Amino acid sequence: MTKRTLLSIFFCSTFLALWAQTISIATNNTQMVLQVNSQQRLCQTYLGERLSEQTNLEQLYMPLVGLSSSCIQGLEVYPVMGTEDYYEPTFEIRHADGNPTSVLKYVNHTTDGNLTTIHLRDEVYPVEVTLYYKVFPEEDIIQQWTEITHHEKGKVYLGRYASSMLYLEATNYYLTEFTSDWAKEMQIQSQELKFGKKVLDSRLGARANFMAQPFFEVGIGSPVSEDEGTVLMGTLGWTGNFRFTFEVDNQRVLRVISGINHDASTYLLKKDDTFRTADFYFTLSNKGVGEGSRRFQRWMMNHQLHKAKDDRMTLLNNWENTYFDFDEEKLVALFGEAKDLGVDLFLLDDGWFGNKYPRKDDRAGLGDWQVTQSKLPNGIPYLVRKAKENGVAFGIWIEPEMVNPKSELAEKHPEWLIQLPSRDTYYFRHQMVLDLCNPEVQDFVFGVVDNLMQENPEIRFMKWDCNSPITNIYSPYLKENQGNLYVDYVRGLYNVLDRVKEKYPDLYMMMCSGGGGRSDVRGLNYFTEFWCSDNTDPIERIFIQWGYSHFMPAKAMCAHVTEWNRQTSIKFRVDVAFQGKLGFDIGLRNLSDEDRQYCRQAIKEYNRLKDVVWSPEFYRLVSPYEGQHCVVQRVTPDKSHSLVFAYDINPRYSEMLLPARLKGLDAEAKYRVKEICLMPGRQSWLSCNDKVYTGDYLMKVGIKVTSYNKLDSHIIEITKE
Ligand code: GLA
Repeated sequence: MTKRTLLSIFFCSTFLALWAQTISIATNNTQMVLQVNSQQRLCQTYLGERLSEQTNLEQLYMPLVGLSSSCIQGLEVYPVMGTEDYYEPTFEIRHADGNPTSVLKYVNHTTDGNLTTIHLRDEVYPVEVTLYYKVFPEEDIIQQWTEITHHEKGKVYLGRYASSMLYLEATNYYLTEFTSDWAKEMQIQSQELKFGKKVLDSRLGARANFMAQPFFEVGIGSPVSEDEGTVLMGTLGWTGNFRFTFEVDNQRVLRVISGINHDASTYLLKKDDTFRTADFYFTLSNKGVGEGSRRFQRWMMNHQLHKAKDDRMTLLNNWENTYFDFDEEKLVALFGEAKDLGVDLFLLDDGWFGNKYPRKDDRAGLGDWQVTQSKLPNGIPYLVRKAKENGVAFGIWIEPEMVNPKSELAEKHPEWLIQLPSRDTYYFRHQMVLDLCNPEVQDFVFGVVDNLMQENPEIRFMKWDCNSPITNIYSPYLKENQGNLYVDYVRGLYNVLDRVKEKYPDLYMMMCSGGGGRSDVRGLNYFTEFWCSDNTDPIERIFIQWGYSHFMPAKAMCAHVTEWNRQTSIKFRVDVAFQGKLGFDIGLRNLSDEDRQYCRQAIKEYNRLKDVVWSPEFYRLVSPYEGQHCVVQRVTPDKSHSLVFAYDINPRYSEMLLPARLKGLDAEAKYRVKEICLMPGRQSWLSCNDKVYTGDYLMKVGIKVTSYNKLDSHIIEITKE
């Protein structure tokens, strides 16, 4: 070897040592490794099962590492538009001088407990990008977000600002998405991802998840399955437009970009201001979506859901019972029914407000949050008092972000409405969206809650609805910075919700959006629960709840017993709603004595078993997508108590019925199996009823809980002896 070669090796290795920083981000079971390459660019070198402590992370294979310009092509952690990468980037910036790109180089990083912070900087322009990775080790969830700052004079625009880019390598990838529509939330669809791109996104602004829900699953190497295989499960914590891009590149590497949807949202970022992206959360399970769902549910219960450790109230809602047609007398009678039923709370729905334009249907009054004098002459305080006298708490419906053009509010403040100045307005449900970018509007929206609470400190619950997407995208407040609207709207909403949470920490709130049009995990950091769907047909709800159970805990999923699908028995309807946060929205006087008795008894059982129903240890045993039955199971974390919910939909005579093999029990322990919630006077005909089995038996042999009966249901309690 010549002296010259030796010298160049020496210089090269010194240079490499300087920049070969290795950053490990790990939960108990998952690890992500990032490395700074020779060009100071940050790359992902590993994402998979946690490696042993002995592993030399520097040996990890970084494709195309070298000194040529192509070295960063492929795995850069935060690739930028307009540089070497041929595929969809995470970040796009237009500098004040019109230059449309940045080259982001590693500066330094810190790890503080569970948070890793990595600073990147453009060498030429004063632009800083900080990547954050927060790990939840026990739950195996990783949270990622990014902050972007610049110090340029003049206008700097952000064209894209994703939260995360993940790379995965396998021969095949299979995407599961959760499609949506009114009354059709969380329908599961799967497809193989081939070369090119598949985008899941929303551009609806306020009722953002109307047509697509912000969740995905990708089977890595094999289709997604319940208990086997590697699956990436992700969601965006953002109560607005989201975008997930799945791109299979020429090397068959899968690139997953997650973030706020940048469509129509080129953001003007002021000098020295920081743009914080939304939070992306993911888990990489190698035990299928079952394990992934339990991780998400545990994480929601331990870290994310507002008031997760507090109780929830069963309720009687009047929406489907009365619609807009009620008065004081009717409501007071319903308080009595709520008491008789045994629920904790009465929820007064839409139709209680508006005087110049009383809210007698959905065409007028929205925005005028004063009680309709002619309908409720004694106001809300009277209702709260009367509810209390009947032994139930009081809750109330609001839709504070929205306005009917036929309202005093719209007449007084046309400048508060999101609407295009020079075009016809498109109304969704006869209403428009208030411009939450405007701080005055934020004060008004906060005031809707605050005024009600000031007048009625005993209100325990609010159902916060949001029925319209943003349909006429123009903010009078933002003027020429219209690209900021979709993002600043959500930030405005969070400003309001922060104030509500701070001032009224004991208030329970349901997030609702014409059903499940809002259902994101950030929203649930403010709301204690959400309305999964206006569709309460129990057959449809079996599918909708099955869908949400992939990410959401039962405690957050409002499930009401209504009159949808009267072919189903009241028992079947209650047994489906029992799986979530139980409520009723039904005229109880129309029910038979036997049915009413069943409901009362079911509420008592629900109250007794809340800890089991709301446990995140959840198992999907029989899929309604694979036949005419559905069986799911919950187990308490200590494995002492479990509930099995079994439903027969429309079975065929020729079907073979297999026993349901339970999961998550203690194999050594003995458990008593008992069917509960039977119709008055009925006996259980399940052969397993009132028998004792080992956990081992229940998990290996199983119990017969499905039948050939149409629309039959069973709730089975499993108790450790
Ligand atoms: C939405 C909700 C319903 C009900 C109505 C009232 O559609 O999803 O539950 O509150 O609004 O207008």
